[in-house]
Amino acid sequence: MSDQESKLYPPPAQIVAGAHVSGMAAYDKLCAEAEADYEGFWARLARELVTWKQPFTKVLNASNAPFYKWFEDGTLNVSYNCLDRNVERGLGDKVAIIFEADNGQVTRVTYRELLERTCRLANALKAQGVKKGDRVVIYMPMSVEGVVAMQACARIGATHSVVFGGFSAQSLRDRIQDAGAVMVLTADEQVRGGKQLPLKAIVDEALGLGGCETIRKVIVYRRTGGNVAFDPARDAWLHEVTQNQPATCEPEWVEAEHPLFLLYTSGSTGKPKGVQHSTGGYLLHAALTTKWTFDLKDNDIFWCTADIGWVTGHTYITYGPLALGGTEIVFEGVPTFPDAGRFWRMIQDHKVTIFYTAPTAIRSLIKAAESNEAVHPKRYDLSSLRILGSVGEPINPAAWEWYHANVGGGRCPIVDTFWQTETGGHMITPLPGATPLVPGSCTLPFPGIQAAIVDETGNDVPNGQGGILVVKKPWPSMIRTIWGDPERFKKSYYPPELKGYYLAGDGAIRDARTGYFTITGRIDDVLNVSGHRMGTMEIESALVSCTELVAEAAVVGRPDDTTGEAICAFVVLKRPRPTGEEAKKIAAELRNWVGKEIGPIAKPKDIRFGDNLPKTRSGKIMRRLLRSIAKGEAITQDTSTLENPAILEQLSQAN
Ligand code: WTA
Repeated sequence: MSDQESKLYPPPAQIVAGAHVSGMAAYDKLCAEAEADYEGFWARLARELVTWKQPFTKVLNASNAPFYKWFEDGTLNVSYNCLDRNVERGLGDKVAIIFEADNGQVTRVTYRELLERTCRLANALKAQGVKKGDRVVIYMPMSVEGVVAMQACARIGATHSVVFGGFSAQSLRDRIQDAGAVMVLTADEQVRGGKQLPLKAIVDEALGLGGCETIRKVIVYRRTGGNVAFDPARDAWLHEVTQNQPATCEPEWVEAEHPLFLLYTSGSTGKPKGVQHSTGGYLLHAALTTKWTFDLKDNDIFWCTADIGWVTGHTYITYGPLALGGTEIVFEGVPTFPDAGRFWRMIQDHKVTIFYTAPTAIRSLIKAAESNEAVHPKRYDLSSLRILGSVGEPINPAAWEWYHANVGGGRCPIVDTFWQTETGGHMITPLPGATPLVPGSCTLPFPGIQAAIVDETGNDVPNGQGGILVVKKPWPSMIRTIWGDPERFKKSYYPPELKGYYLAGDGAIRDARTGYFTITGRIDDVLNVSGHRMGTMEIESALVSCTELVAEAAVVGRPDDTTGEAICAFVVLKRPRPTGEEAKKIAAELRNWVGKEIGPIAKPKDIRFGDNLPKTRSGKIMRRLLRSIAKGEAITQDTSTLENPAILEQLSQAN
């Protein structure tokens, strides 16, 4: 028996009975169907889950690989599929969204209301001249309005690009500029953990930085009523532009390949990339994975705790659950306010049945529960839960076991879903009514997804041996290109040596006996901090852009108990190396600088100062050594090529 087999958790009988994919035989059958007729498999599901205006006749077009096209002659509208279709099915009075504000106030919105609000905004956007194919940046808090904004763009065929509300003015400006957006939708302020934080002021600052001349209008949702600057020529209130608009709006029927959204994410070079997604293939996978991975049923209360600023919020808040006519929670606040029992109290109050969150949140709530009995999940009635999910980073077995026992009461399967901004939806994940679970493993590919582990030349490696995670065949919800940079798309995801396979950028290993996948972490210069993707080069550029102070900087990750990875920066200043209080002061200054340049999530946890960085004689920074130093490990690597070995000692001393 392999190590993994000894820890298998079989799916509970009450979940297997009646599951959309019930039992391993059903999973195997779906995989066999995809194996036997790959295009037929996806075409069948695309007909079953998506309502097409004009049905497609072509399935996959690989003539210009890796720029694949799916269902290209079909037309559809995503907001029709998420809203009108449910109203037409008789779900008009069903609650689509249960919104809980930071202060605990709850609002319910039915499908009919959501449709009307979407139509009003869609009409308002059209009245402002927004057209099919225009890019609209959404910089909004977690809110019904945020979901409506995305749906309204989809309704008129405008391509949205949501920017997470924690990004700085500079990051927002870069994204607006790269996308060539015509409009920004924002709010006066956002409320998190009892605090009011600016949004509109950051938009003003971003536009003031220059380079955003494509922006014609800024539409502002009044969330707090806080004081904001208003330029009547450019700015308009959301409630004013929508109030006289009709509550119906004919959807814009777009081709399946029409770009539904861009979402910027970090890669291994300094500049974030605009991942471009399609309409038809994306919607199919959003709906299908919501149905199979979460086993979503009509009476479920689904809660994905992600922010709409990340891909998880796109697929599992705005699109997947609504496409299936589900009822979901949208939560404005943070897990620790007013106390660290917030999630558990909300599950209890709203009788949540499916709960999807990130390992970082779980780990920090474990810590909180261990130090304060009152916020321990066992103090709450969580008996409504039937399925738990995890996303964004590897979940360590100890956190998995705690989540399973204390939140799931030992009866709820945990779906550890591996996927990426680029993949649009789940790639490797258990199905709750089929897959026996192993803590810490994302188990097996979603039916139809040809995930594999290969070496640097694209050859399969045997189970039990680690390698590079790839996807051998294109799939409907895959990234279509990097906005404005098709060459970078090819280079990043389809390197020539990998035989035309999609390169995920993660390392992985399959268990020798079960064949289950375990993700071992990024193989490029991308960090995963609290489930947020950060490029080391991005942070380095931010540091060196502080030209007054910084001469050189190198950023690496180190393991962190709560955040998964923590950012560790090695910095050479333009002045003598500071120590003691002075070092602390400058480190704080640089941390704030990075916060302003990128956003608070990019602030390095550790900053160490050196007279230099460890470099080879040819001047290359030896990051492997920096990683060891950051971890506090003894250096065991070969340092013979190092130009300045003495620097290691200096950098090892904590500031
Ligand atoms: C990591 C988030 C292990 C991985 C949906 C990937 C995971 C990156 C898991 C994508 C998981 C995501 N287990 N690692 N279940 N899910 N990752 O684009 O490194 O923000 O490449 O998408 O997160 O992050 P992104």
